[in-house]
Amino acid sequence: MKTLNLLLVASAALLSVGAQAATGEEIMTKSGCMACHKVDAKLVGPALKDIAKKYKGQDVLAKMLPKVRAGGPGVWGPIPMSPNPIEKISDADLKTAVQWILSL
Ligand code: HEC
Repeated sequence: MKTLNLLLVASAALLSVGAQAATGEEIMTKSGCMACHKVDAKLVGPALKDIAKKYKGQDVLAKMLPKVRAGGPGVWGPIPMSPNPIEKISDADLKTAVQWILSL
């Protein structure tokens, strides 16, 4: 009985870990963003830390969400970001990801 209780507690703990919301980094990995972005270094797109630095102290989230959705060039140079449609990343995940980037 004691073993069974322990097993139940252990599986409940595992379940709650599984149910936790994904972090910005997990979302960006799963949504393919990390093919072009790295946290510390420029790849195809700017380093995520450089994005955070550029917009530090500015309230840019509302502007940034449609920009990342639509993609496009011009802010960091001539290379465009490809569009990131809803099939690739949900509104909620996009918001978590961009909030995470801006917090770096
Ligand atoms: C095909 C490569 C590519 C992919 C995939 C990509 N990006 Fe980008 N990203 C770029 C490039 C290039 C830029 C710079 C665009 C510019 O100069 O305006 C950029 C810029 C950004 C910026 C800064 C925009 C600004 O206006 O300063 C954010 C935030 C960002 N990306 C987030 C994301 C997220 C989140 C994803 C995944 C949903 C993603 N990117 C996927 C290439 C990519």
